[in-house]
Amino acid sequence: MTVGGCLLKCPTMTPLRSVKGMHDILPSEIAKWHFVERTYRELVERFGYREVRTPILEPLELFVRGIGEATDIVEKEMYAFEDKGGDRLALRPEGTASAMRAYIQHSVQVSEPLSKWYYVGPMFRRERPAKGRFRQFYQAGAELIGAQEPTADAEIIDMAVQFVERLGIRDVKVQLNSLGDEESRPVYREALVAFFSRSRDALCPDCRRRLEVNPLRILDCKVETCKGLASEAPPVVEHLSLASAEHFSQVRRLLDRYGTPYEVAPRLVRGLDYYTRTIFEIEGDAGELGAQATIVGGGRYDTLVSELGGRPTPAIGFSFGIERLLMIIGGKEPAPQRLVFVAGVGNGGIDRAADLARSLRKAGCSVEASYGGGSLKSQLKRADHMGATVTLIAGEDEAERQSVTWRDMKDGKQHEVPLSELTGRLGEVL
Ligand code: HAM
Repeated sequence: MTVGGCLLKCPTMTPLRSVKGMHDILPSEIAKWHFVERTYRELVERFGYREVRTPILEPLELFVRGIGEATDIVEKEMYAFEDKGGDRLALRPEGTASAMRAYIQHSVQVSEPLSKWYYVGPMFRRERPAKGRFRQFYQAGAELIGAQEPTADAEIIDMAVQFVERLGIRDVKVQLNSLGDEESRPVYREALVAFFSRSRDALCPDCRRRLEVNPLRILDCKVETCKGLASEAPPVVEHLSLASAEHFSQVRRLLDRYGTPYEVAPRLVRGLDYYTRTIFEIEGDAGELGAQATIVGGGRYDTLVSELGGRPTPAIGFSFGIERLLMIIGGKEPAPQRLVFVAGVGNGGIDRAADLARSLRKAGCSVEASYGGGSLKSQLKRADHMGATVTLIAGEDEAERQSVTWRDMKDGKQHEVPLSELTGRLGEVL
């Protein structure tokens, strides 16, 4: 069989590599991942959030409608394709649009006036790979659906800050802005069109097009000349409707009250079209990523649910990339789980070791055993290599006495322990 002109059964033995920008997470690294995910789950569940899991593949249309046609994500970065049945699909580039699709599809608003959802999973963007930027990356996020009050904004921002601080990241600061509502949008759009039209020729070709389609996106352009122009553009906060200005001031008042470190960033726009009113990014001391880095991004999206075909429902959320977070927290690895090694020696040693390992695992211990037996010396070497705290030696003599030999792997001291006391003794040291 051939695929794209290439034989599926490869005739050469060249080892295959993972796709550019997509990485394996090896068992040796996973403890850190679990630590971050566990910390996140524990915290958000305390705030009443429950996990949602949505498919990785979605209809392409979801992101075109949800994130916006003129955004970099949809225009340049999506893994989109037609499947063999002719359906236009995309690997999800973020989690919010998928979560809202699920929220609408399952009529969740009928049974719950307020929903608090969180998710953890892989996202895909075909960006230029760089330090902290990948083509497959893991995002964890939270979405608070059904609340329009500023208290909701302040609570979710505070929750995200608490999470980042809990991981030991220093110099945490929230960059805060408001993009206004449906009333302020057209007014601001007009102000931007008037401003950028004066320097139309200096804009990059993409931004000249954005000027017609969505001028807000010019504020997000990465081309230097556009960046220079954007820094002079009128700030959105000067064009807020009364209601949006009041909402923004209440959010700030509450953050002041909580002591949440923030500053107003009048030119922050964020790269997704669905945002309304409050938007924010959280930055902190970035360690190996260099200087300050953006860790969390989020905001309010009060019109997304209705734009995707649901009943008008206000919502706000955030997400962060786990890889970036791990690069920032660097060496702060959680203590490894304590391990017991079971060494079987003498006649029937392998079976005795396997039986003991099995019963200790059932009792809740982390246990390794040597599958092929071997000399005691080689088994102890293996136990040492695996970082075992204790090795239990199951020899013939011990078996007769219904006991095992306990070897402390730190100082090499040994003594015999009756099998009946074993789990209790292990419980004291593990
Ligand atoms: P976003 O700013 O596009 O927002 O992404 C959020 C976070 O995902 C970023 O701050 C960054 O940590 C991480 N991230 C994004 N792209 C990459 C990449 N290529 N490689 C590594 N990490 C990356 C959203 O996705 C919105 N859905 C956030 C949100 C939720 N707004 C409301 N609810």
